[in-house]
Amino acid sequence: MYRISHRRNIDSTGNRLSGYRGCGNGYRGADMGRRTLLAGRTIRFTGNPFEADVDDAIEYREGGGVLIEDGRILECGDAESLRQGSPDAVRHDFPHQLLIPGFIDAHVHYPQTAIIASWGKRLLDWLGRYTFPEEMKFEDPSHARKLAARYLDLVVSHGTTTVCSYCTTHPQSADAIFAEAGRRRMRLAAGKICMDRNAPAELCDNAARSYDESRALIDKWHGKDRLTYAISPRFALTSSRQQLEVLGVLWQENPGCLMQTHLSEQTEEVAEIRRLFPEARDYLDVYDSCGLVGDRALFGHAIHLNDRELDRLKAVGASLIHCPTSNTFIGSGLFDIGRRIPEGQRVGLATDTGGGSSFSMLRTMAAAYEIGQLQGCALHPGQLLWLATRGNAEALGMDHAIGNLAAGNEADIAVLDLHSTPAIAQRASRADDVWEEIFPTIMMGDERAIHSVWVNGKEVGKPARRECSEKS
Ligand code: GUN
Ligand code: ZN
Repeated sequence: MYRISHRRNIDSTGNRLSGYRGCGNGYRGADMGRRTLLAGRTIRFTGNPFEADVDDAIEYREGGGVLIEDGRILECGDAESLRQGSPDAVRHDFPHQLLIPGFIDAHVHYPQTAIIASWGKRLLDWLGRYTFPEEMKFEDPSHARKLAARYLDLVVSHGTTTVCSYCTTHPQSADAIFAEAGRRRMRLAAGKICMDRNAPAELCDNAARSYDESRALIDKWHGKDRLTYAISPRFALTSSRQQLEVLGVLWQENPGCLMQTHLSEQTEEVAEIRRLFPEARDYLDVYDSCGLVGDRALFGHAIHLNDRELDRLKAVGASLIHCPTSNTFIGSGLFDIGRRIPEGQRVGLATDTGGGSSFSMLRTMAAAYEIGQLQGCALHPGQLLWLATRGNAEALGMDHAIGNLAAGNEADIAVLDLHSTPAIAQRASRADDVWEEIFPTIMMGDERAIHSVWVNGKEVGKPARRECSEKS
């Protein structure tokens, strides 16, 4: 029978691990060419479960295995055959657990880690009351580094191996998360926020500075290790047209970068954009007229859109990033995933930490399911899992590298315990198939369901709890 596992912070000699087990030295020396075999139950995407039947799009295997070498997946298949082909591989058995690609979170604000779950405001008040004062602290590079480390420890402990994060206006806030992700050999996208109005003076740059600082950060980080730069105007409300235009030029000069911003999250915000940009046809047109709409653009929230905006987003293949816990927490509205995906929009899924109320993609999938249900769409567990992994890899243009347990992909893997609490275990043990067994973990699971996490082919430990409870 299945056992509830509490193995996570214990190393092979039975000692409790007190911090992050580093994976920062790459694959030089003794590790080079050494193979690792993870054996367990595996999930692999062979298609898109929004376009094909779930059972045709997703392969579930008992007795499956993932063979890893130099941080990449060499092969995924039957564990015994893989073992016979590579008898010297170091083998890790997960007989009851489920091996899935590490979760990907397509829209977060790591600097908002310490203000997550702040009570009682709508977007524009929430930004002024909680977010901007918190973001001012990131002028201090040591604070930025500490919070970047804390944030990455937290997300990895929730099974997330890649995020796309906003930083603050300070370049040092971007340096901090790129350096921390690089040290952990994590795949990550991030960018310094650009804003030159409607925010405290201490947090504003200006058009020229936003171009120069973003460009210097691109030169420093983009394409290094597993890092991607995301040009990040916060939203049109906090940028002048001049600033948006120079960032459009910067993107044109660096088309391999992502571009992330917020779009039509709350109705008051949409009204304010109409007032600030009376010449624009609509909210999306503000970005479009500045060269900020394209297939590597990520638009957070994208709830209150008109037909023209939806047509344009679909035509260019931009990604709409659904942030369900944030949209309920800040009262923004209901993203209509049951219409957007069938219409042909590319949709990503995200926590939006700290407007979102969780670091967990399991909790985020549950919220997406609930918001879908309110609008007559019951997402299948396989579709939810796809959104949080392969779908987000596509949204971020990283599907060549992550989001699937497939040969050639980088070995970012989450090992799920589907019986992580008594409440989940008693429901899962009645399941007739794997989807019925997974669904209680999606709906009720938290970091206790994350048995272990592998980043770039190496197992990483859990962060010490003590550090996270320090005041900052
Ligand atoms: N719109 C502009 N900035 C933000 C932010 O930090 N969080 C959310 N949820 N929406 C925003
Ligand atoms: Zn956001």
